Amino acid sequence: MDKIVIAGGKKLSGTVQISGAKNAALPMMAATILASGQSTLHNVPHLKDVSTFSDVLRVLGARVKREEHGLTIDTSSIEHFEAPYELVRTMRASIYVLGPLLARFGQARVSLPGGCAWGPRPVNLHLKAMEELGAQVEIQHGYIVAHSEKLSGAVIDFDVSSVGATANTMMAACLASGTTVIRNAAREPEIEALGAMLTSMGASISGVGTGTVEIRGVEGLHEVQERVIPDRIEAGTYMVATAITGGEVTLKGVRVDHMGAVIAKLEEAGIVIRQEGENLVVERTSSLAPLDITTAPYPGFPTDMQAQIMILLSLARGTSVITENIFPDRFTHVPEIRRMGANVKLDANVAVITGVKELSGAPVMASDLRASAALILGGLVAKGETEVLRIYHIDRGYERIGEKLRRLGAEIHRVRE
Ligand code: EPZ
Repeated sequence: MDKIVIAGGKKLSGTVQISGAKNAALPMMAATILASGQSTLHNVPHLKDVSTFSDVLRVLGARVKREEHGLTIDTSSIEHFEAPYELVRTMRASIYVLGPLLARFGQARVSLPGGCAWGPRPVNLHLKAMEELGAQVEIQHGYIVAHSEKLSGAVIDFDVSSVGATANTMMAACLASGTTVIRNAAREPEIEALGAMLTSMGASISGVGTGTVEIRGVEGLHEVQERVIPDRIEAGTYMVATAITGGEVTLKGVRVDHMGAVIAKLEEAGIVIRQEGENLVVERTSSLAPLDITTAPYPGFPTDMQAQIMILLSLARGTSVITENIFPDRFTHVPEIRRMGANVKLDANVAVITGVKELSGAPVMASDLRASAALILGGLVAKGETEVLRIYHIDRGYERIGEKLRRLGAEIHRVRE
């Protein structure tokens, strides 16, 4: 297993190109199943999760071709309907094939994803929605087994705003007979991007990006060319990298309108952020003020930025509080950053961070994608050397992070173990 080694203390400067969004690309890849033909996605990031999803599509019989940041998916040859455990367990988003397979082929067999580093991640809302659309859904030997002659539109109330369940339901409803209304739908930009792609494919959808989405079923969809939106979480991560090292960095190709909550909180901490068209200039000019943060569904502060903002606040001038309302156990990064000298107290889903003067380099263990990003951010500023182990987690969601940070002046390199 590879590790990343960082010598802390270098201020970041220069420009960094933000890649396409992982959490938009994955549902968009699944949506290509809905139409028989060859669709092409542009600005697709080179990530482990994208190659894993490509493997899932290949197991179904699709042909997937990668050229630079393009991804061409030919779904005319799909003739299998099972997403196997060995792939699903490495990437929960494989469940995105459930809705499209049911909608186009009337059948799907998808392994239950199991848990992740921060506790169980249920899929009950996905299953409830498929049943309300008329599918028979059973759990057999760890697999979701679903059948449906023809899905039919329904009013679906989600008691929890779920990105994945909203995506799966939108895709399934496109080919159902009649109209589907999703209430308490997720409003994330990645859901809006999926809605735009489905509409380009011939779907009839309204209200995407609001809490209520209406999908009027159509006979069929056609293939499409679509571009993946920039990754707002990658952008937020590089903004924190700039802030924590006290540098000045220009982020290129950002959707600033997707970053309201993160920008507002970083400015509250004293970071200077200037928009120049699609670029964001981020600069740390003063000491860091402490913050109170509560994670929430979009447009609230994203849970995927919680670990990153925590490591930044570990160096703030005062005490900060982070309340994690989406995944209450999402604190596997805390024991590791404590080893770097951070002062964090946990009480259920609330973290109290008392700012310290400095962090010290240490060998630390990555446990999931965003936790590993936080450990790297800590290493950038910690005194001495930091080794981040099990770095395969980071490869799932950050394109060429070592290279991008090195070009910004960080002393960081990957060591093959
Ligand atoms: C998506 O996961 C993202 N993943 C996650 O990003 C992100 O943290 C999460 O949304 C929240 O924004 C992708 O887009 C591939 P949810 P998802 O369904 O869809 C509960 C990253 O780092 N829930 O919106 O799995 C759930 O337990 C990843 O890029 C149910 O109870 O998240 C949670 O409390 C990590 N039943 C809440 O809803 C269900 O059937 C929100 O989860 C589904 C979800």
